[in-house]
Amino acid sequence: MGRTQHRGRFITLEGGEGAGKSTNLDYIRDRLENAGVPLLLTREPGGTPLGEKVRDMLLDPDNSHMSSDAELLLMFAARAQHLQQVILPAVEQGSWVLCDRFTDATYAYQGGGRGIEFQRIQVLEEWVQKDFQPDLTILFDLDVTIGLERAGNRGALDRFEQEEKTFFEKVRHAYLERCREQPHRFRIIDAEQELDAVRRQLDHVIDEFVAAER
Ligand code: TMP
Repeated sequence: MGRTQHRGRFITLEGGEGAGKSTNLDYIRDRLENAGVPLLLTREPGGTPLGEKVRDMLLDPDNSHMSSDAELLLMFAARAQHLQQVILPAVEQGSWVLCDRFTDATYAYQGGGRGIEFQRIQVLEEWVQKDFQPDLTILFDLDVTIGLERAGNRGALDRFEQEEKTFFEKVRHAYLERCREQPHRFRIIDAEQELDAVRRQLDHVIDEFVAAER
């Protein structure tokens, strides 16, 4: 499904640990709603009752023995349910969907971080999504050391947050690589800046997108 064939729009937020994605989620939602956009806010892994159960399994530090393939397949199992139950019906009805992470996270974390070949991820992507892709992806990018310091101040770490710095360096590299490959879809936010400056960047990206899509 391409941009011209569905009525709503699909916007995704991406970034490494501590990049400020969650901090700015409500701000982005408010900006879009104030522009008069009918909006549904959701997240991955999760977004459905089934997907939230899968999320719990994926993030549980007790599941430290989970294989990379099991992790990848669980991500796409949750995504298949999310697309069928929530995202596609909403977009088809003309709603805009704002999703906290989507398949770019799989390329970054399971591809870059875990080292699964991108071609194998692509097979699952085509299976589950056909040609459905985000219309806009906002990537919060920042130095990995700074991101981990910020994330580390939040208390108990989940299974991903417990990874080493080199894992997150690979995640960041994979995200930036995807930006280079698909510049039409990605907008990069310099997340190292102060909150006010980050929000000015977001204002610019959101306003420009809304104006172009109307
Ligand atoms: P969150 O921190 O944005 O809530 O996301 C939960 C974790 O799940 C985060 O560490 C990134 C990870 N993740 C993947 O590894 N692959 C994916 O496809 C998605 C959507 C998330």
